[in-house]
Amino acid sequence: MKYTLKRKNFNDFSVYEINKLPGRAYTVPYSSKDALVKMPFRKEQYNSDIVRILSGKWDFRYYASVKDLPAKIDTDEIKFDVINVPCTWQRSGYDSPAYINCNYAFDDEPPYVPAEQPVALYRKFFDIEDTKKTYILSFLGVDPCIDLYINGKFAGYSEGSHNTAEFNITKYLVKGKNELVGVIHKWCNGTFLECQDMFRENGIFRDVLLYEMPAAYINDIYYKAKEKKNGWELNISYEILGKTAGTSVKAELYDGKNLIACGESDLPGGSIKLTKLDVQTWNAEIPKLYTAYFTLYLKDKELMTVRNYVGFKTVKINGDVFTVNGKAIKVKGVNHHDTNYKTGYVMTFADMEKDIKLMKSLNVNGVRTSHYPPDPRFVILCDIYGLYVIDEADIETHGCGCDPHGNIDLISHNPEWAPRYLDRVKRMYLRDRSRAGIIMWSLGNEAGGYACQDVCYKFLHKENPEIPVHYEGVIRTARHSYDVVSEMYTSHADVEKCGKHTRGPKYTPKPFYLCEYAHAMGEGPGGLEEYWQIIYSYENLMGGCIWEWADHSVYHSRGKYKFTYGGDHGEWRHDGCFCVDGLMYPDRRLHTGAKEMKNVYRPVRAAYKDKKLVLTNTNRFRNSSYITAVWECVKDGNILLASDEIIPDIEPCGSQAYPLDIKLPKENCDIHINVYYYDGENELAFEQIALREKYTAALPAKEYKVSVTDKPKTCAVKTGSLKVTFDKESGFITSMIKNKTELVNQSPAKASGFRPNIYRAVTDNDVRRWDDWRKAGYADYDCILDSFKVRDKGNAADVKVIYTLKGKDCKKAIGKVAVDYSVKANGTIDVKASFAPGSFRDAYKDIPRFGLTLEMPEDFTAVEYFGMGPDENLSDYYAQSILGIYETDVDSMYEPYVRPQESGNRCGVRYVKIGNADGSGIEFAYKKNYFSFNARSFTQDLLESAGHIEDLHSENTVAVNIDGFLRAAGTASCGPDVLAQYIINAGKGLEYSFTVIPY
Ligand code: GAL
Repeated sequence: MKYTLKRKNFNDFSVYEINKLPGRAYTVPYSSKDALVKMPFRKEQYNSDIVRILSGKWDFRYYASVKDLPAKIDTDEIKFDVINVPCTWQRSGYDSPAYINCNYAFDDEPPYVPAEQPVALYRKFFDIEDTKKTYILSFLGVDPCIDLYINGKFAGYSEGSHNTAEFNITKYLVKGKNELVGVIHKWCNGTFLECQDMFRENGIFRDVLLYEMPAAYINDIYYKAKEKKNGWELNISYEILGKTAGTSVKAELYDGKNLIACGESDLPGGSIKLTKLDVQTWNAEIPKLYTAYFTLYLKDKELMTVRNYVGFKTVKINGDVFTVNGKAIKVKGVNHHDTNYKTGYVMTFADMEKDIKLMKSLNVNGVRTSHYPPDPRFVILCDIYGLYVIDEADIETHGCGCDPHGNIDLISHNPEWAPRYLDRVKRMYLRDRSRAGIIMWSLGNEAGGYACQDVCYKFLHKENPEIPVHYEGVIRTARHSYDVVSEMYTSHADVEKCGKHTRGPKYTPKPFYLCEYAHAMGEGPGGLEEYWQIIYSYENLMGGCIWEWADHSVYHSRGKYKFTYGGDHGEWRHDGCFCVDGLMYPDRRLHTGAKEMKNVYRPVRAAYKDKKLVLTNTNRFRNSSYITAVWECVKDGNILLASDEIIPDIEPCGSQAYPLDIKLPKENCDIHINVYYYDGENELAFEQIALREKYTAALPAKEYKVSVTDKPKTCAVKTGSLKVTFDKESGFITSMIKNKTELVNQSPAKASGFRPNIYRAVTDNDVRRWDDWRKAGYADYDCILDSFKVRDKGNAADVKVIYTLKGKDCKKAIGKVAVDYSVKANGTIDVKASFAPGSFRDAYKDIPRFGLTLEMPEDFTAVEYFGMGPDENLSDYYAQSILGIYETDVDSMYEPYVRPQESGNRCGVRYVKIGNADGSGIEFAYKKNYFSFNARSFTQDLLESAGHIEDLHSENTVAVNIDGFLRAAGTASCGPDVLAQYIINAGKGLEYSFTVIPY
């Protein structure tokens, strides 16, 4: 068929829609209520006899340049490929993926995007039997715009990727075969409003629906619940379109299968009120929903029914306290982007449900739909499963704040853009306004402001004064805030000041909401528990949403790299790995951070006071009696002293003390109480309380003669079946033979050991320290031997090795490290390491680590330790851990972050044994300080140089780090850095010790 294409809409600032229908509620009508009743929500969209799904195979032609697509085309002449809608070009082999954080993909001045750009042609045939019906074509998501043509004619234009775009296409249709053609440019004027931090993808990325409406149809419906003195009221406003003569409507409200209220009307529009409803309220903990059916009749004939899940709740801001149903709530939230590792923006129903179920299983109670409205069913799923929703408009103009524009307010302060802002906010509102879970509307993200936002705020405030409005961007403007004070990445200290009202007038007197906090990139987030200690202390702090739910990445089943990020696809502009910053891997395997969050967001918290376990229910609505708290009191990691179960019958926010019957031993030992919370079979969370930390390591008692053989190049110490050989040129132990088994790698990948280690393969959250460390030479330094002294004491041999550490490219030294060994008659070696800083104060005032590395032979892979586990942890990042005795192996200890970095460490270590299959090995035991350790089959250097998981490989070694000091995680990749109490300042020198017990 022949078409004359519109060439200008995408870049015509006077146009952002043509023939597009006004926004309305998302519903899926069925012609039979009985059929709808039987249809689970999961299948509702795909089984209606009124709504046809046009998703599936579409003809597709991609043009790298608009120049290649002539204005006049004949679709019969075009050679199309076939793609599967929904999809994005970039995930289907057309155009390459490009990840950008702040900038636009081009430097053109708003409102005009480059004229020269890619464009794609979509085509779908569909059959129409009855041309008397009304046909509404509904795109749930098209990025960034679409020119729509039907049967040779232009039918409309739309912008606003994440808003539903609907067109009444009835007049273009013919009986039989019809041709739908969509032209999608890569960028349009609206692109200036969609500068979100994500892979920038294009295409029809959500389902396409064709509503085949009978002569009269329910066009729009809005359920608004209001609490009245005599019960709840449900106001159902509706709009019937088409031939309305003789039609009537019936509204029914069910609690399960029981009809609890019903109303009728024969007006084609207006409202039905259901009053004096005796209903239970909805909240995220007890997400009680009622099912509403709304049926349209023509005389007695049922024309169609739509279903809505209705929840009853109030949101009120009392002074500076944010309440739901009158209770101050805390949002234990996450920021959620639509991202699937294989399909990008395309999220199936199963993907969405999986994310929501995962959130619930991780004790999340709220989600900010960053940074646009999600698929309409996502919000419904939040209602069903119980999540507070901050529904965000598809507006971000971050690129305006970057070069060459340099003014984040450029667009938001320009009223010419206001209609576009309002369009996006209005359409979000109209689509989702009946949803129970929505506790705030969001005017978007990082768009400066506020002239255009004010217009949107006024609209929302007028239409829906019941739901507060959030928009973080205004915090940096004279407007400061809308209904709540929103901020991102606020430091702990400032959050506390907000709680105390000492941060200044602009932070009061409204609730304080962290729309983003605890940047979860790479290893971390650190300091999460510390945030919650503060959030729980002040009523005006309403919690916040961790940035962010999942890593964004492109998956390659057969590529060199499985998971790629910015810069891996030849992008001319990109932001590297900043997109892999989630609580979970792209494929939803949990990062350690997700496990940490699960415990920090736990519904019950325990304390030990006066021989009692004091449990506090952090829920706001739900009594904690659904939980079983299983506690155990453990000595030295695995000796059970006592255990029991408690069913905590505690009102929301209440506490209860439970006496514990434990006889505490008198000797020096560790005693901990571990509490595990279950809901039925599901483990909800766990935590640990230390009662006493006085573990003492058992050492071999039997003593042997100690003999020293000092040669010019080596020095060997023998006692019993142990022989330790030092190399006098490097100072390292090059051999440690116990019972004839060599415990030191004879062909080490870097150095046998113990090599002083003051560095770590930088984590994403170390970013603010990189420069100082690198300048000081931490990343690549020599250990220059200053002196090697041995003293034969008869019953022991003492070896003292002193090194100067000097960066390869530095003139000045990093500092000196002394390692004192004492090989004892009982076959153990005491090791003491001390660091005295030299130059580079900026580096040593906050160092990555101070430890020693020993390379063991590659087959020493079995690990048993008594320390924090089972997953990695750091000093500000261990809510996921319990001090205990764990068995693992070298490879399993490593956390395979998409961008490799330091990980896999275990803190608070009392002992660790690293052995081979024959039962030989080395135990490193606590002496004066608990230490951290990790063990890897490759060196720190390889880890530091690796850009992707596949760059790592075994270097035929087991590199064991025994660290006296290891930097915490923090969240400095975007948020505050490590808290002062966790910083390792080496200014006054550092010292630690441990015992080596070969076996
Ligand atoms: C925020 C922004 C997010 C994301 C984050 C960094 O400022 O709102 O979209 O970019 O920083 O990961």
